Amino acid sequence: MLLLSPSILAADFADLKNCLKKAEKADYIHFDVMDGMFVPNISFGIPVLSSVRRITKNVLDVHLMIQEPSRYVEKFHDAGADILTVHYEACSDVGRTLGLIHEKGMKAGLAVKPGTDVKVLLPYFSEADMFLVMTVEPGFGGQSLIPACVDKVSKLRSLLDRQGLDTDIEVDGGITRENIDTILNAGANVIVMGSSVFRGNISENVDFFLNKFEEASRC
Ligand code: DX5
Ligand code: ZN
Repeated sequence: MLLLSPSILAADFADLKNCLKKAEKADYIHFDVMDGMFVPNISFGIPVLSSVRRITKNVLDVHLMIQEPSRYVEKFHDAGADILTVHYEACSDVGRTLGLIHEKGMKAGLAVKPGTDVKVLLPYFSEADMFLVMTVEPGFGGQSLIPACVDKVSKLRSLLDRQGLDTDIEVDGGITRENIDTILNAGANVIVMGSSVFRGNISENVDFFLNKFEEASRC
C-alpha cells in the first residue's frame, strides 16, 4: 500500500494548525526530531509532538535523528507517536531499541543514512515494521535527492522479497513530482515529502501525490 507522509519540517510553524488541516487527506504526518549531535541541526521535540497530537488524527510517523534514541522511547510514546523510527547508526543496541518501541505498542522503524549499506538491516528483518532509506543526508529539508540511494531501495526490496516479506520501505529527502515515479518503481511505499507538500498549495500538492499513488496502484 502506497502511503504519503508529509514532513512538517517544511511547514510554516506559525500556522501549523492550518497546514496540518490542509494535509489531513495524507495517511501519516512525518515529524523530524534532530538533536544537534547525530545531525548538525536542531528541530523540535516532545512538547511540540504533544501539541501536534492534539490537532491531528493522522498517524504520527516520528523520525528520530538523535544519538542513543532508546533513552526517549517512553517520552515519545507518551507524547503521541504511532511509529517511532530510529537510526541504525545512532543505536548502541539496535535490537534492544526496537524491542523497547514494541513494548510501548508503537510500530518500530529502522533508518539508514545514504552511506550505510542496506545489508546491515538483514539481522532486523523480522523485528522492524518499516525500513527508512534516507535519500539525502539527514539534517535539513529542501535538499536534492541522491540518485544512488534509489538503487539502495531496489536492493532492499529484493532482499525482503527473497525472504517473502513485504515490509514497508519509507524514503525521505528530496522527493518531488519529477522523481516520484522512479522512487515508486524502486519499491518504496511510504513516501515522506516536506517541500513538495508544504511549499505552494498544500492541499493541491497532497491531491497530486494521492492521485499519483492511486494510479500507480492500479498498474
Ligand atoms: C531530513 C528530514 C526530512 C525532510 C525532508 O533530514 O528527515 O524528513 O523534512 O524534506 P524535503 O522533502 O524537503 O527534502
Ligand atoms: Zn525525516
